[in-house]
Amino acid sequence: MNRIFSGMQPTRQLHLGNYLGALRNWVELQNSYECIFCVVDLHALTIDQDPEVLRNNIREVAAAYIAAGIDPDKNILFNQSVVSGHAELGWILSCHTPLGWLNRMTQFKEKAGKQKDMANLGLYAYPTLMAADILLYKATHVPVGEDQKQHLELARDIAGAFNRRYETEYFPLPEPQILGEATRVMSLRDGKKKMSKSDESEYSRINMTDDADTIAQKIRKAKTDPEPLPETVTELEARPEADNLVTIYGALAGQSREQVLAQFAGSQFSDFKKSLVDLSVDKLAPITTRMKELLADKAEIDRLLKKGGERAAAIAEKNLNDVKDIIGL
Ligand code: ADP
Ligand code: NA
Repeated sequence: MNRIFSGMQPTRQLHLGNYLGALRNWVELQNSYECIFCVVDLHALTIDQDPEVLRNNIREVAAAYIAAGIDPDKNILFNQSVVSGHAELGWILSCHTPLGWLNRMTQFKEKAGKQKDMANLGLYAYPTLMAADILLYKATHVPVGEDQKQHLELARDIAGAFNRRYETEYFPLPEPQILGEATRVMSLRDGKKKMSKSDESEYSRINMTDDADTIAQKIRKAKTDPEPLPETVTELEARPEADNLVTIYGALAGQSREQVLAQFAGSQFSDFKKSLVDLSVDKLAPITTRMKELLADKAEIDRLLKKGGERAAAIAEKNLNDVKDIIGL
């Protein structure tokens, strides 16, 4: 059986990177896999959260999933904290994970910043909780953006180590699915950083809920260089900020970078940016509108999440019992 698990953190609004790198692919995949899509609210606690804001962000992420085209009846859609098995398996797996493996995680190094001793334990243990999210459902495939590749490899290592330790094949080794033209959307302000919810600069990202004016403003301000668009992808790749905008355009239009350059080579970025604004608004506006409609009825979203949580819990409970049996609890 092929089963997908994936999730997003309810930390601020979802952005174009989340959409192009993950969510949009999920919409395709729901037709060929049994899918579990989670709002990973326990992961969001690794950074300081205001309780009211968090509560609403959980609903917003669920609404974004549905508005983008995830069917909440066909798939299991829920928020992580309602299934206690995530935290429980997270602990069990953390007792099977050498510190050396976690010390290699680049996301911790980036997010902890310079004052590593002040970072919380949850941020450090994030990858073991993520492994638990996936393995709790014995998921075989995990569609994510490129930034999660290292965490996925760790999840495979943990699953393999568990299987060897207990001489079992209980956990499948989950396969990453890094799909599409925009697997790593970069910040609009800094071509070296990925577009992220945790970036303090609002101008670094386009949120899925931004209105047309905001999108226009952010793309106008996006960092570029004074050269026109080049002829070839090789030339483009030497210019990270330019490459990022062309990649975003291509992903939104369903075109390769070659196709985008065939149309725009020689154009100034000021003109290209106008086309990018129109295309972004065109693609995001229907999703934003649908999100707003869904968010007008919070009780309905809460009801959908609760129903999904019950379906998830039924699988989680059985698997967690198996795991406890295997390890002698
Ligand atoms: P963030 O890093 O913005 O907080 P999450 O950790 O919630 O986002 O990631 C949710 C999903 O979106 C993951 O599959 C992740 O790989 C993907 N993703 C996040 N940022 C990007 C990006 N800049 N480009 C492509 N995919 C991304
Ligand atoms: Na991330």
